[in-house]
Amino acid sequence: MQTLKREHWHSRLGIIFATSGSAIGLGTLWKLPYMIGQNGGGAFIALFLIFTLLLGFPLFVGELLLGKINQKSVVSIFSNTKDYGDFAPILGLVSIVATLLIAGWYGVVSGWGINYFVMSIADAFHNKSPQELSDIFLLFRSSGSLNIVWQIVFIICTCFILAKGLNQGIEKYSKIFFSLLFILVILLFLFSSSLKGFPQALDYILSPKFEQLNREAILSALGLSLFTLSLGQGIMVTYGSYLSASENIFKTALIVSVSVVLISVLISLMIFPMIFTFGFEPQVGESLLFITLPYVTEQLPASMALASLFFILLIFAALTSYIGQLEVLVAALIDVFKLNRLKASFITGIVCFVMGIPVALMMSEYNPYPNFQTIFNKDFLEVSDVIITWLLIIFSFGICYILGYKVKKDIILTNLNIKSANLLINCWYFLIRYLIPLCLIFISAVRFNLI
Ligand code: ALA
Repeated sequence: MQTLKREHWHSRLGIIFATSGSAIGLGTLWKLPYMIGQNGGGAFIALFLIFTLLLGFPLFVGELLLGKINQKSVVSIFSNTKDYGDFAPILGLVSIVATLLIAGWYGVVSGWGINYFVMSIADAFHNKSPQELSDIFLLFRSSGSLNIVWQIVFIICTCFILAKGLNQGIEKYSKIFFSLLFILVILLFLFSSSLKGFPQALDYILSPKFEQLNREAILSALGLSLFTLSLGQGIMVTYGSYLSASENIFKTALIVSVSVVLISVLISLMIFPMIFTFGFEPQVGESLLFITLPYVTEQLPASMALASLFFILLIFAALTSYIGQLEVLVAALIDVFKLNRLKASFITGIVCFVMGIPVALMMSEYNPYPNFQTIFNKDFLEVSDVIITWLLIIFSFGICYILGYKVKKDIILTNLNIKSANLLINCWYFLIRYLIPLCLIFISAVRFNLI
C-alpha cells in the first residue's frame, strides 16, 4: 500500500500559534482562576508557574521531540515495543483514554461558553442579582438538551477545521483565533487594571501563602500545569510529528511555555480585580466564570460588550485547544486505519460527542448515570479530573523514561539540530532522566501521605 507523505507545518509562526493555541484554553481561563480561588490564591499560582517552567517546559520539548523523531501518530509511535519497551503500547492507550476523557467534558464546557456568549449579546444578565444568575446557571445546567445542542455546535466547528487539514485547517485557524485571543486578553487586562480591586488582586496573586496549600492542591497544581501545556495527552507528540527536520524545538517550546506563563498571569490579573472590586469571594469554584463574572461585568460600563468579549475569548481559547485534542484521535485514525481526514474527523467528532453526554446530562432529570456525589463524595467532573491528572502523570513519566533511557542520545541531538551536547541540552537531559521522574514520584507520594 502506498504510504502518504507526512504533512508538515508551513511556518515557524504557524507552529507557535498552533501549540500556544492548544495550550491556552479552558485550563487557563476556567480552571486556573477557580482553582487559585479554592487553593489559597498566590501560593497555588506560584506552584503552577514553577511546575510549568521546571517540569512543563522540558516535557514540552520532550513530547515535540518524540513526535519529530517518529513522524507518526501517538498510537503508532508507542506500538514500537522493539525500541521503546514492552510497556510502550500502554502509553498509547493512556494518551487515547486521557484525550477521550478530557474531550468529553471539554466540548460541553465550551458549549456553556457559546450559550453564555449568546446570552451576553442578548443582554440576558441585565439587572440580575447574583442569586438570579446562579438560578439561571442551574436552570441551564439542568437542561440536558441545551447542553447537548451547544456541545454539538462546538464539535462541528472543531471538526470542520480538522477536516480542512494541517495547513489549511489547524495552522490557518490557530493563527486567526490565537491572534484574536491575544488581543482580547490584553484589552480585558488593561480594562481590569483600571478597576479599584486591582491592587487587592495583585496582592492576592503576588503574595503567596504556602501554608494554605494542602497535599491535594500540590497534585492539582501539577495536573493543571501539565494539562495547560497540553502535555500527557499526546497532543504535543502529535504536533511534533508534523515538524520538519530543520525546526528548532527548544526555541518553539520556550516561546510557548513563556507565553503560557505570561497569559496565565494576565488572565488571573484580569479576572480577580473584577471579583474583588465588587466584594466577591474568589472561592466559589467552577461557577466563577458563569455566575460571578456575568454579575460583575453588569456593574461595569459597557457591560454587554465586556461580557460578550469575555465569552468570545473563552470560545476562541477553547476552540484552538479542542483542535489539538481531537487531532490526537484524527491522526491516530489516519495512521492506523488509513482513513482519509474527512472520515477521521467525522468519527472523532461522534466519539467525542458520546464521551461528553455524561457531563452534558449530569444535572438534568434524564441523567441515566449513577450519582457520583453519593458514591465518591465528588461530582462526575471532579472524579474524571482526578483520573485525568493521574493519566497525565503516567504519560509524562513514560515520556521521560523513553527519552532518557531508550532513545539514543545521538538521535536526540540530530533531531534537536545540535552537533554536540551543550549546557542547555545537558540540563534538559538531566531533568528528563532524573529530576522530573523524581518530582513526579515525590508529588505522588506526598498525595498518598507516604511522605
Ligand atoms: N491545554 C488546554 C487547556 O488548557 C487543554 O485548555
